[in-house]
Amino acid sequence: MTRDARISMASPDLAESDIEAVVEVLRSGRLALGPRMEELERRIADYVGAPYAVAVSSGTAALHLALEGLGIGEGDEVLVPSFTFSASVSVIFQVGARPVFVDILPDVYTLDPVDVERKAGARSRALMVVDVFGHPAQWDELQAIAGSADLRIVDDACEALGAEYRGRRVGALGDVATFAFYPNKQITTGEGGILVTSDDEVASIARSLRNQGRAEMGAWLEHPRLGYNYRLDEMSAALGVSQLDRLDEILERRARVAAEYDRLLSEIPGVRTPVVRPDVEMSWFVYVVRLAEGVDRASVMAYMEDRGIPTRAYFSPIHLQPYVSERMGDLRGTLPVTEAIATRTLALPFHGRLEPDDARRVAEALGEAVSAAC
Ligand SMILES: Cc1ncc(COP(=O)(O)O)c(C=O)c1O
Repeated sequence: MTRDARISMASPDLAESDIEAVVEVLRSGRLALGPRMEELERRIADYVGAPYAVAVSSGTAALHLALEGLGIGEGDEVLVPSFTFSASVSVIFQVGARPVFVDILPDVYTLDPVDVERKAGARSRALMVVDVFGHPAQWDELQAIAGSADLRIVDDACEALGAEYRGRRVGALGDVATFAFYPNKQITTGEGGILVTSDDEVASIARSLRNQGRAEMGAWLEHPRLGYNYRLDEMSAALGVSQLDRLDEILERRARVAAEYDRLLSEIPGVRTPVVRPDVEMSWFVYVVRLAEGVDRASVMAYMEDRGIPTRAYFSPIHLQPYVSERMGDLRGTLPVTEAIATRTLALPFHGRLEPDDARRVAEALGEAVSAAC
């Protein structure tokens, strides 16, 4: 039997123009704190419809500065889903606050507004919304709860650039939003991220903190604040600007691959394709199916791996991670929907350049794997 080539789990969508944009920066000699970073900030702010954007070195850095910018710290609680990437939660501990884990909706895996309302308490200062896998959360309900409970909203939109909720673009729906540009994201800067806000004070604090706590107009060796080096370099920023020029095309290609998977997988017993609510525009970050109860996911993953097809068990709940248990004790059994769903979700290889033949290979292998693993 001839072995098929291994399929990539993810892949950046790079064009010759992206390479040229980076090389141009190298030729210019201006490699940091320059015009490309400012251009990326202006372009992202315009794109999401918010007045300020602050480019940083990762999505995690953007989340960290979002919390610090809002003054979240010691003694505060932040409501957050557990069905997310670790960074949504780790930054809460890093600013000295405590997460309060909230369960998710069983169809689209975003925050369950009823559980948010139930868990908002006297110490709750902020709500971390995650537009998970590029599907916008239930923003109308969440904004209403945040309004009546006096919560600031951080939108972890790291997976959702380009997504829309009821005609409004994700990124301008909370007090602060963050996007990430790691190479598996819709657009990439290598490492990188950005914070977006309509709050000029948050923007100004974030600009200072990413740059060693310097004042915006201050001297290089004066540090009014305790800061970080979270700056985004010019090569990365130029790549981001160049990728943004092709964003519509990139998102369309990803949506076409998702539609092809939907078509190929919809007839396979034991596999549920992703749900997209009718009032949203999904920005496809990953393609995550849900296996029926009783299908052994580990066997499915091993079967696929054997055939050169990587898969990931997205997401492993954060409230059950060792670093959380160490700080909060054993939280098993506290989030029934998250815990049940997280044993059955499976991310398939996904990017905009996935060939139809490869999508077919994935679908065939998944069908075989699931029928063998029941
Ligand atoms: C939901 C979510 N939040 C935050 C991040 C962190 O972004 P980065 O890896 O750029 O730090 C990611 C990245 O995968 C993410 O998916």
